[in-house]
Amino acid sequence: MTIEEFIKKIPKTELHLHIEGTFEPELMFEIAKRNNKIINYSSVEELKKAYHFNNLQEFLDIYYEGANVLITEQDFYDLTWAYLTKVYSQNIVHVEIFFDPQTHTDRGIAFETVINGIYKALEDSQQEYGITFKLIMSFLRHLDEASAFKTLEEALPYKDWISGVGLDSSEVGNPPSKFERVFAKALEEGFITVAHAGEEGPAEYIWEALDLLKVTRIDHGNRCLDDENLVQKLVDLQIPLTLCPLSNLELKVVQDLKEHPLPKMMEKNLLVTINSDDPAYFGGYMNENYLETAKALQLSKAEIATLAKNSFTASWLTDQEKEEYI
Ligand code: HPA
Ligand code: ZN
Repeated sequence: MTIEEFIKKIPKTELHLHIEGTFEPELMFEIAKRNNKIINYSSVEELKKAYHFNNLQEFLDIYYEGANVLITEQDFYDLTWAYLTKVYSQNIVHVEIFFDPQTHTDRGIAFETVINGIYKALEDSQQEYGITFKLIMSFLRHLDEASAFKTLEEALPYKDWISGVGLDSSEVGNPPSKFERVFAKALEEGFITVAHAGEEGPAEYIWEALDLLKVTRIDHGNRCLDDENLVQKLVDLQIPLTLCPLSNLELKVVQDLKEHPLPKMMEKNLLVTINSDDPAYFGGYMNENYLETAKALQLSKAEIATLAKNSFTASWLTDQEKEEYI
C-alpha cells in the first residue's frame, strides 16, 4: 500500500479548522451572485492568484474579505456542508471546528443566522455521513475585550451546541492575557478553552494561554520549542498541539516543509496532531496535509498512524468513543 493510500484509509479527526477558511472560490462566487455581492476579483482564477501570503495578517485580510459574502443561514449551511462532504471523502470521522461569530455579527449578521446554518449542516452530516462533531466559538483577538464579552453573552443560549471557546486572528500584540476575564467567564459557564498561541507569537503567549486562559489544547504552538521548561510542561500534562503544516508553509511560519518542527516535537513526546486550518486558502485538506508532511519529512507509516491516533487522543470524544478507533 502506498503512503497515499495508507493516509486515505486510516480514520482521522480534524481538530483545527476554521469553517470560514473552507470557503472555496467557486462557492464564494456562487454565493456572492445570489446575494448580489461584488467580489473584488473578476474570476475564480483571479481570486486564486491573490492567495500568496508573506505572513498571517496578509492572509487574514483576504480571509475576512471572502467571508463578507455570507449573509443567510443557507449560506452558512452550504459552506459547512461543502467542507463536510470533502472530509467524508478523506475518511475524517470526527471534527472539532471553529467559527468566528464576530466576523459576521460585526457586519450586521445575527449570531443565530450563523450558528443555525453551521449547526444544521453538522447535524445532517452526522446523520448522512456518520461524522461526529464539536463546535468551538473563536474570539477575534484583534478586537477588544468588550466585543468578546458581548459575543460570549450571545452564545449562552446555544451552550448545548458549543463545546468550547478559542482565540484566533492577529496574534502578535494581542496576547492571551487580553482575554483572561472573558475566558474566566467562559470556564464558569462550562466551556472548554483552547487558544491559538505560538504561531507567530512567542513562547510566552503559550504560557499565558495555559496559565491564564486554562486551555487544555494549544492551536499551533510551534514556538514552544524556544522554551525547554514549556516543552517539559506540555509533555508532562500531554497538552495537545494542533499543528497545521501547509498553513505554516503558506504563512511563512516555516520556509520549507522539510524544516517543519513536527519530527522534533514527536521526538520530545509532545502530543502533536496534523490539521488543515484554512484548507481553501492553503492548498490542502487533511489528507494533503498528511501527505505533503509525510513526503517532506519522510515519515514512516508507523509515525503517520501515531499522528492519526494522537488526533483521537487529543479530541473531546469520550474515552468510550475513542476506544472505537484507538
Ligand atoms: N491563525 C490565526 N487566526 C486564524 C488562523 C490562523 O492560522 N486561521 C484563521 N484565523
Ligand atoms: Zn487556525
